[in-house]
Amino acid sequence: MPTVNVIVADSTTESREYVTSLLESSPGVNITDHARDGREAFELVRTLQPEVLLVDANISGMESTQLVEQVVLENPGVGVIILSAASDMNLMRKVMRAGASDFLVKPVTQDDLVTSVTEVFHRVERTRQHMAAATTGDLGPKGHIITVYSPQGGSGKTVLAANLAVSLAQHCNGPVVLMDLNLQFGDVDLMLNLSPEYTIAGLAQKQGEIDADLTRSHLTDHESGLKVLVAPSTPQYAETITVYLVEQILDTLKEQFDYIIIDTPSLLQDTTLAALDVSDHILLLTTLDLLALHNTKTALEMLQQLYSPDKIKLILNRSNADVGITPEDVESTLGFRIAAYVPSDGRIVVTSVNEGHPFVLGHPEALISRRIVGLAYDLMGQQPPPDVGDDVVGAKKPRAPGAAGFFKRILLGE
Ligand SMILES: Nc1ncnc2c1ncn2[C@@H]1O[C@H](COP(=O)(O)OP(=O)(O)OP(=O)(O)O)[C@@H](O)[C@H]1O
Ligand SMILES: [Mg+2]
Repeated sequence: MPTVNVIVADSTTESREYVTSLLESSPGVNITDHARDGREAFELVRTLQPEVLLVDANISGMESTQLVEQVVLENPGVGVIILSAASDMNLMRKVMRAGASDFLVKPVTQDDLVTSVTEVFHRVERTRQHMAAATTGDLGPKGHIITVYSPQGGSGKTVLAANLAVSLAQHCNGPVVLMDLNLQFGDVDLMLNLSPEYTIAGLAQKQGEIDADLTRSHLTDHESGLKVLVAPSTPQYAETITVYLVEQILDTLKEQFDYIIIDTPSLLQDTTLAALDVSDHILLLTTLDLLALHNTKTALEMLQQLYSPDKIKLILNRSNADVGITPEDVESTLGFRIAAYVPSDGRIVVTSVNEGHPFVLGHPEALISRRIVGLAYDLMGQQPPPDVGDDVVGAKKPRAPGAAGFFKRILLGE
């Protein structure tokens, strides 16, 4: 690894020297300078342009959040790591939102510190490469990343991700890949009846060597032309998949594929967040039940804090279920428009899942298939062909007024 230049900013001499000693003994790390307060840190970063600024959260002279914001704004090619004496969630959220790359709680081990510096360095390197490419106009091909997420288990994420990916593979002219990021209990391979030779766990063993060829060699072919990166075969491999690995894999997939569809677990892991961060579209799946609505509301609030609302598409699964909650209740309770309606079709979906044969292939004429093909065209920014029908995403029909007031009261305390 090339040398990482680090500036250590800390107002306390003792802890500044301690952190420096941890890093100085690590090969590949060069402590470029030290700063004793926020202003000095800001000026040193401006003149020296290190890859990493390591800041104590209690730095004097400036709020650490403000320092992070200013450094990142004026020096997008510099990564900031915050070292905090306390595990303060509130502060962590603030500094991460201001643009910090990592947040470590003291006492830190040398391993933790070096791992963090290394990961931030790789991210900074990619940012710097992108910046250089942008100035020369050579950004290369850029695939679209679409992540299917729902905080609710069993809401239909994998059914949607698999059928949408197959639809895109059939209807877009370029290559499409489906990545199973449900790292512990991924079942995309079952849903598509695949017998994978390799999984993402194989890539975890080759960290540091990830490139387009290696990633491609770990994909499995589906009969539709779709390529699939399958989840590890057993849950214990999940922990070998790091955020950095996911970022690297997605970088290489973007070079080769027009669309990258990602299936996720309902638990919001750091690897899921890494995928959401780089997604062009987040498909937030919900269903017509109170628990799902409650969880969707929390997830939507978080997503809206992190990302632009244009990036989020709310998808209603089993949209025609007659359960006393209407789609209008969902929209009014969540304050968000439903972008696509996927109907419930137990007969077709259950058989399709059991046989491992996507229903968009087996039953292209069914409404559920046409809605998913319609969504695929919507994501491609194109009009669907006439045989898909014009009611492709399930445009709103007037419905009897639902119980929105009731759900709002329960969920919002209004
Ligand atoms: N539109 C639908 N109509 C009928 N059944 C459906 C529909 N969508 C999903 N299902 C059923 O729900 C089951 C769960 O779906 P799926 O596995 O896609 O959920 P998931 O969100 O991926 O779950 P997990 O959180 O465990 O990963 C499927 O096996 C299927 O039988
Ligand atoms: Mg699933």
